[in-house]
Amino acid sequence: MCMMHIYIYITSNPPNCRNGSNVVSKNLSLFHTNTSRYASLASGFCERALHCCHLYGPVWKASFGPILTVHVAEPELIEQVLREEGQHPMRSDLSSWKDYRKLRGEGYGLLTAEGEEWQSVRSLLGKHMLRPKAVEAYDGTLNAVVTDLIHKLKLRSQQSSSGLVTDISAEFYRFGLEGISSVLFESRIGCLDPVVPVETERFIQSINTMFVMTLLTMAMPQWLHRLLPRPWDTFCRCWDYMFQFAKGHIDQRLEDERQKTARGERLEGRYLTYFLSQAGVPLKSVYSNVTELLLAGVDTISSTLSWSLYELSRHPEVQTALRDEVRHVMKGRSVPEARDVAAMPLMKAVMKEILRLYPVIPANARVITDRDITVGGYLIPRNTLITLCHYATSRDPRQFCDPDAFVPRRWLSRSEGSHPFASVPFGVGKRSCVGRRIAELEVYLALARILMHFNVEPAEDSDPVQPMTRTLLVPEKQINLRFIER
Ligand code: HEM
Repeated sequence: MCMMHIYIYITSNPPNCRNGSNVVSKNLSLFHTNTSRYASLASGFCERALHCCHLYGPVWKASFGPILTVHVAEPELIEQVLREEGQHPMRSDLSSWKDYRKLRGEGYGLLTAEGEEWQSVRSLLGKHMLRPKAVEAYDGTLNAVVTDLIHKLKLRSQQSSSGLVTDISAEFYRFGLEGISSVLFESRIGCLDPVVPVETERFIQSINTMFVMTLLTMAMPQWLHRLLPRPWDTFCRCWDYMFQFAKGHIDQRLEDERQKTARGERLEGRYLTYFLSQAGVPLKSVYSNVTELLLAGVDTISSTLSWSLYELSRHPEVQTALRDEVRHVMKGRSVPEARDVAAMPLMKAVMKEILRLYPVIPANARVITDRDITVGGYLIPRNTLITLCHYATSRDPRQFCDPDAFVPRRWLSRSEGSHPFASVPFGVGKRSCVGRRIAELEVYLALARILMHFNVEPAEDSDPVQPMTRTLLVPEKQINLRFIER
């Protein structure tokens, strides 16, 4: 996840591997400076920080030991790492996120907590967020948000003679935030209203800037913050606002509940904040978990929906087939429910294919802290940061023929025979995405309704859009599409 590493790339078994194991040696490492993408993002202070990168080595060495990070880029090897991850898997240090929490005395959420603290909240949330029946119950809540999205797209497309909607990701950020808020608070926060509340726009902007600053602040040792204060200050201000936004909504909802209780009314909240507070989770931890869930539900949904419509607009035959599938299942009804999705194999294949081509987390990581492990015949010492190169495996021609092409049907037959760990966009195992089922349901319900209401076409003279890394993988520039009402 860092932009600069001393790193070791393992793509296959080591040559001349004696005794079945080989300690990864410093001689294999090379100094890699992947500045090209980020340099364009970097303004003056970023560039100065990049020029000081020789100073980061000692700090990283103090955290990770003599071998700093290993990159694993074969599905078999990714599987080997994930199968060794132990009882409380650790994703990566996310050091600057943790530093912020320590500095401000905030709690940790699922994205940042480790060990027993992580396990206790994970078990609680997992029961509500990963059980198919529990998630299906959110379809009414999510459908209300989709209805507003459709109105918004109609309004915007009617403002242009060609049905053009510019920067669809911006619209889907708001949709993502409204969707996850309605699941967390069971109330609406106005992201899809004709006039979007200022605080909502500021929250979304804070997420964006925080992600840009994450890479930089993680690469900078703390003492450098005094010399180059801007990245760290900006990063902290973004988190301050995100916590403030979440706390405001949580306090409001909990106050509503207190008043209901005082009036002797029955409480029957199904939303996640209520569930967490009722389960005895300390308020500090409710704040941090809800902040991190809000954050996790915005870019992920926006990016997946944006790429889905981008590819469907460029592949009208797939779009027509998907619409036919939805209409066949709906049999004249206008609003799909969660159980309808079970009968939509192409819909599921489209989402898998989008996340194969554009995995929201292009490279994940694990740190195994309690023992050395063997991967591909190399012995990797404990505490090594092991980067899992998902983008590399999901675009590997040995795994997927014509790997850069959008071919959802490849998921409908197993003839392609890719390795099961070649594309794992939600991760695998105990620390995998806890929002997976909610995310899938949200994307299915939104795509189904959009296709029932619109033919989606590329903007005239639109150039291809490439993905770029901003901690997460997002479109490099605006995606503009035409939404033609049916
Ligand atoms: C298409 C949408 C999404 C994708 C592709 C995605 C992907 C991921 C991935 C790859 C991870 C790391 C898994 C690992 O380390 O093994 C993750 C973790 C996580 N995701 Fe998602 N995610 C999505 C949507 C969401 C949504 C909507 C939420 C919130 C409701 C969410 C909440 C989380 C949380 C809290 C974690 C940390 C889990 C833990 O450490 O226990 N995600 N996600």
